[in-house]
Amino acid sequence: MLYDFSEKVASCLDSKEISKFIISEAMRLIKADNISVMLLNNDSDAFEVITHSGKETYSQDIMRLQEGVAVSVMDAGKAKIINNIKSDSNYASKIDDLISVMFAPLKVKDRSIGVVKLGSRSQLEYAAEDLKIFAALASQAAVAIENARLYENLKDAFITTVHTLAETIEKRDPYTGGHTRRVTDYCLAIGRMIGLSDTDIHRLELAAVLHDIGKIGIRDNVLLKDGRLTDEEFEEIKKHTIYGEEILDHIKHFKNVITGVKYHHERYDGRGYPDGVKGEDIDITARIIAIADTFDAMTTDRPYRKGLSLEAAFEELKRCSGTQFDPELVNAFLKAFENKPV
Ligand SMILES: [Fe+2]
Repeated sequence: MLYDFSEKVASCLDSKEISKFIISEAMRLIKADNISVMLLNNDSDAFEVITHSGKETYSQDIMRLQEGVAVSVMDAGKAKIINNIKSDSNYASKIDDLISVMFAPLKVKDRSIGVVKLGSRSQLEYAAEDLKIFAALASQAAVAIENARLYENLKDAFITTVHTLAETIEKRDPYTGGHTRRVTDYCLAIGRMIGLSDTDIHRLELAAVLHDIGKIGIRDNVLLKDGRLTDEEFEEIKKHTIYGEEILDHIKHFKNVITGVKYHHERYDGRGYPDGVKGEDIDITARIIAIADTFDAMTTDRPYRKGLSLEAAFEELKRCSGTQFDPELVNAFLKAFENKPV
């Protein structure tokens, strides 16, 4: 029975999800009213309840009280039962409104990264057998949580590096300052509105950040030209989509990001570039970026023209819905903006 649990937690790379697994598994195996998973935040040196089974929020007093017990369990590195905690002078008057509690350290090798607390509001005696099961769950969850946290840190560092790279390139054109950041925000709003999976959201974020990376291959006198572009110059600008593909093609992690970058200037009616791909044959990330990119270009000031108002830009998106843009995604964008300005 613990086998399923081990498999589930070992294959999960989200520390909150792992905490939810441990809570539901402990609730199934041990009689309890409340379980919370607390991790030590190394920056603030305080405990953070990352997931708990109840609806209540924790007051500062209770947190402090818990910290005292939690710290002693962490330091000892051993799970502990406190039956009838209200009469235990070591632990002051109460912990929540629980009567019997168990604490188990989240131990990774010889170090604890946090504590799991489980408690009952009724007068029951937890036995050594309960503690054994609880400690076993906690120790399996600890390794998985630590792996997930390492993965999350790595992912954050990676996204930050990619943003920095994109913003460095953006600096060549002083009038587009902040464009990448805004396009990414708009894209994520659309992606969330249509319920993309976490994996697709990650892919969308990378493609949005990197959509114009190919501009690094465009000459300054074309890229930074103030006036109207000649046909020849426009043909050169168009190449930034292909250059983007060529640059990303070297990096394994970006393989599934390439279509989003390469096709962000394709049109829903097939009259875009570089390949004239049409409708849903255009990768969904590219269809999303097309809307976000155009919306930001329309609403920001340029040296030779003032940006449109939000309302005028929304009208323009609607006017081009079904020809330039995927109509469903335009609706999703308008809805996302309606709910909460991005
Ligand atoms: Fe572009």
